[in-house]
Amino acid sequence: MEKQLNVNYLGLNLKNPVIVSSSGLTASLERIKALEAAGASAVVLKSLFEEQIMHESAAINYCDYPEANDYLAEYTRQHRLEQHVQLIADTKKACLIPVIASICCVTRGEWVGFAKRLEEAGADALELNIFLLPTDKRPSGEELENRYLAIVAEVVESVSIPVTVKLGRQFTNLLNITAGIAFRGAKGVVMFNRFYEPDIDINAMKLVSSSVYSSPGELRSVLRWVALASAQDIGIDFAASTGIHDGEAVVKALLAGASAVEICSTIYEHGNGIVQKMLADVEAWMETYGYPRLSDAIGVLNYKNIDNPVTYERSQFMKYFVQHA
Ligand SMILES: Cc1cc2nc3c(=O)[nH]c(=O)nc-3n(C[C@H](O)[C@H](O)[C@H](O)COP(=O)(O)O)c2cc1C
Repeated sequence: MEKQLNVNYLGLNLKNPVIVSSSGLTASLERIKALEAAGASAVVLKSLFEEQIMHESAAINYCDYPEANDYLAEYTRQHRLEQHVQLIADTKKACLIPVIASICCVTRGEWVGFAKRLEEAGADALELNIFLLPTDKRPSGEELENRYLAIVAEVVESVSIPVTVKLGRQFTNLLNITAGIAFRGAKGVVMFNRFYEPDIDINAMKLVSSSVYSSPGELRSVLRWVALASAQDIGIDFAASTGIHDGEAVVKALLAGASAVEICSTIYEHGNGIVQKMLADVEAWMETYGYPRLSDAIGVLNYKNIDNPVTYERSQFMKYFVQHA
């Protein structure tokens, strides 16, 4: 049986659903070329972090003349942006797979400035890595969500390439924010980003980094939300991210309603060869279950397509649902 693994995500025709997510893996041309050779269908570049650029610029205090320091800070900012622009241009020249640029800003105006510059550089699409972490009680959920939506609207209006939004999972109603993002013209949502999280070492009495890599069990809540969101008929694509470590997880994500997956931890842990292994396992599944076209499997088990959608709604361990006493 001739198998077609290609999928459509954000209007991009991808040769298969496995995209390498934004991380150090996609921060250099050499690594991206190796990922393309390993079978990845697209890459999301390491995010361009405005905060990092600001930090680097602020560290500049070369001389006693404030004008000179301001000039050098602006030069540093431009230089970092141009390095990123160069990576996009080089990747577009050297690789055939689509390049999705990723930005994460803190000041409102910079989202648009960065987005335009990366579009000019040749990015095929833009992923907005938005995370507004509240550190005090004042902004209401609605206020924060409106800020997300304003960023999306402004970027979408300023570029003509497709825009996708990579979300964290902490929203009161993820389906509502997803619909709002779609309404503002984004073409996709990535569920979910996995953020750096602090842990506490109780012996050293200090904060330490938790594991930066995901575990396969983290996929389960991704499946629920992709299945619910993709059933809403809001006309956008979903990419699943977090906890996708093998071919079985790819199939699950697609059945739940994702058009593509974004992977990172499993490559860090197993090397680029895991991509081929995942694709081979997906093909074996297609063969066994009679899916010559992988795209036909997308959403087959989402919230609106299964006989008993209530399964996706179950969240409490009521005694009807569990065997455990
Ligand atoms: C070392 C490392 C660096 C990352 N850098 C970024 C980043 O710059 N931008 C971003 O949106 N996500 C970043 N991520 C998150 C990943 O893109 C991905 O969403 C997350 O790791 C969950 O996918 P996984 O389970 O396949 O690892 C990073 C993850 C890791 C492990």
